[in-house]
Amino acid sequence: MPKRYKIAILPGDGIGDDVVEAAMKVLDTVGFSNQAEYLYGDIGWEFWKAEGNPLPDRTIELLKECNCSLFGAITSKPKEEAVAELNPELRNKGLIYFSPIVKLRQLFDLYVNLRPCKAYPGNILNYRDDIDLVVFRENTEGLYSGVEWHPVPEAVMKVLADNHPKAKRFEDFALEDLAISTRIFTRKGVQRILRSSMEYATKVGYKTVTVVEKPNVIRETSGLMVREARKLIKDYPSLELWETNIDAMAMWLIKNPQDYGVLVTSNMFGDIISDEAAQLVGGLGFACSGNIGDKMAVFEPTHGSAPKYVGQNKVNPIATILAAKMMLDWLNEKETAQQVENAVAEVIKEGKTRTYDMGGNTSTTEMADAICNKIENS
Ligand code: IPM
Ligand code: MG
Repeated sequence: MPKRYKIAILPGDGIGDDVVEAAMKVLDTVGFSNQAEYLYGDIGWEFWKAEGNPLPDRTIELLKECNCSLFGAITSKPKEEAVAELNPELRNKGLIYFSPIVKLRQLFDLYVNLRPCKAYPGNILNYRDDIDLVVFRENTEGLYSGVEWHPVPEAVMKVLADNHPKAKRFEDFALEDLAISTRIFTRKGVQRILRSSMEYATKVGYKTVTVVEKPNVIRETSGLMVREARKLIKDYPSLELWETNIDAMAMWLIKNPQDYGVLVTSNMFGDIISDEAAQLVGGLGFACSGNIGDKMAVFEPTHGSAPKYVGQNKVNPIATILAAKMMLDWLNEKETAQQVENAVAEVIKEGKTRTYDMGGNTSTTEMADAICNKIENS
């Protein structure tokens, strides 16, 4: 019988293999695998080194065939280091490393990056036990648009100086002594992340949506976001709109994190604030993400590839297991998703099974087994 879902499994590199394997065990145990065909795809550092492309076309084609994807982790390195590790035949070809996950987000228009940060009862790493917030990070534009230069082309500098009085003071610099990264927002991009956050807040029952920007300084981009938020919130009478500057938000998250519900922000600010929020509920070992578009989604742990732990079967797989849970939710397999979350919550509450980040020495595999055990006995 044909399976109901096609899921692309992209373990990536570093500890990606370990954590994805752990999540797959959980998906098997909860019975989801009976309904799903898993297609494994190539992605990551290994393919950059060997082929000069960390996201081969065959992987993009594979993703197009799937309902959604579960992604592990990928190593990213700065420009020069990346070139130095290339297969010697590929050097001097002008290849430039790019982050495959950022590319996937843009290519498949996965405009929402949904990052729930929930304090599970009994987690000794919780900063407080009453935190339950969700970050909505715009995922396709802003400072991640990739429109940047170094050196700055003369024509670009000229256009800037001709059109903006504040660009004049940069004109006297040599072009190779200038670097520019643009922060591009579109009204469409802004509106859809705001709307998604407000829909979600209404559905889940959060009372507030906090737009986190910096419109007092970054007037045009942050300004657009806040102005649109004020308009859209009128469609959601049950919600209150809070406006907080990114710097203040970093402070408030430490001071009163329990006061916040849904936070909505642009790409770079969301990247930063979501790591901070994750730390309040146990750190990156617990932080999961959904990169979500209208038709496609890629679920991943928020953490990176942690190269220093490769091959040690040591890291906490809960972030990836919770990412798999988000995937189940997105596929509308609500009961199965709940079963996974309950099992994770029980293991945390019991406090017996603890990976190194939780002060224990449980391995990645043993953590997965403990969670599977709870599912089997539920
Ligand atoms: C994240 C990560 C990525 C990002 C990196 C790996 C490119 O930090 O998902 O938060 O900056 O978006
Ligand atoms: Mg990040």
